[in-house]
Amino acid sequence: MSDKHHNSNLHIHLKIMSEEAMTELGACLAKWVRLGSVIYLDGDLGAGKTTLVRGFLRAFGHQGAVKSPTFTLVEPYSLENNIFYNYNELEDVLKPDDNNKHLTQSKAELRADDVKIYHFDLYRLEDPEELEYVGIRDYLDGQSIALIEWPEKGYGVLPGADLIIKITHLNQGREVELLPQSENGRVIVSKLSKDIKTDFLIHDDIK
Ligand SMILES: Nc1ncnc2c1ncn2[C@@H]1O[C@H](COP(=O)(O)OP(=O)(O)O)[C@@H](O)[C@H]1O
Ligand SMILES: [Mg+2]
Repeated sequence: MSDKHHNSNLHIHLKIMSEEAMTELGACLAKWVRLGSVIYLDGDLGAGKTTLVRGFLRAFGHQGAVKSPTFTLVEPYSLENNIFYNYNELEDVLKPDDNNKHLTQSKAELRADDVKIYHFDLYRLEDPEELEYVGIRDYLDGQSIALIEWPEKGYGVLPGADLIIKITHLNQGREVELLPQSENGRVIVSKLSKDIKTDFLIHDDIK
C-alpha cells in the first residue's frame, strides 16, 4: 500500500495486562473509530479478540452479552440511543494538538440507527467464497463498522483492513499491536495513541 511508509511510525505496541484493560482499549478504539472502518482482529483462540470487541460495543452503549458469533459468522449491533460523530470528512482531524476539535466542529452527526457495527468471527468459515453468500458486500457498505475475528479465513473475499489489531499471548497478559493499513487507520491510531499515554490502565511500552 502506498502509505505504508508513513504508517510504520504509527505502529503501536502495547502490553495489556488484564481483561479490564482489554475492554478499556476497545472503548478507546470506539472513541476514535471512523465510519466505514474495517478492523481485523488477529490472534489465537483465547487471545482476547472478543474481549476487545466487548469493550468497543459497551462504549457505544451496548449492554447485553457479546460473544463470538462462531456459528452465525456475524452479529449485527445497532447504535441505539447513541449519536455517532462522523468526523471522517473533517480535514483538520489530522492536525496534532487539537484532540477535541472534531467534537465541536462535527455537525455531521448521524442518527444512531443509521449506523451498524458488525462483529464477524470467521473461524468456521471453510471457504472464503461463503462470504459472498452471507452478503458481505451489503454489510460493508461504508455506513458501518466491521470488527473481524479470523480474517485470514476470508482472504481474497474480505475487503482489506484499515487497521489490523494483532494480539499475542504473553506469560502474563497480552501483547497488542496496532497496525494501520490505510489513511483511515492511521488517523484512528494517531488519535488513540494520545489517549493511551494518559490512560492508567494501558501504561506499558509505547515504542
Ligand atoms: N489482556 C488480557 N490479559 C489477560 N487475560 C485476558 C486479556 N484479554 C482477554 N483475556 C481473557 O482471555 C480469555 C479469552 O478471551 P476472548 O476475548 O474470548 O478471546 P478470543 O475471542 O480471542 O478467542 C477471556 O477469559 C478473557 O478474560
Ligand atoms: Mg472470539
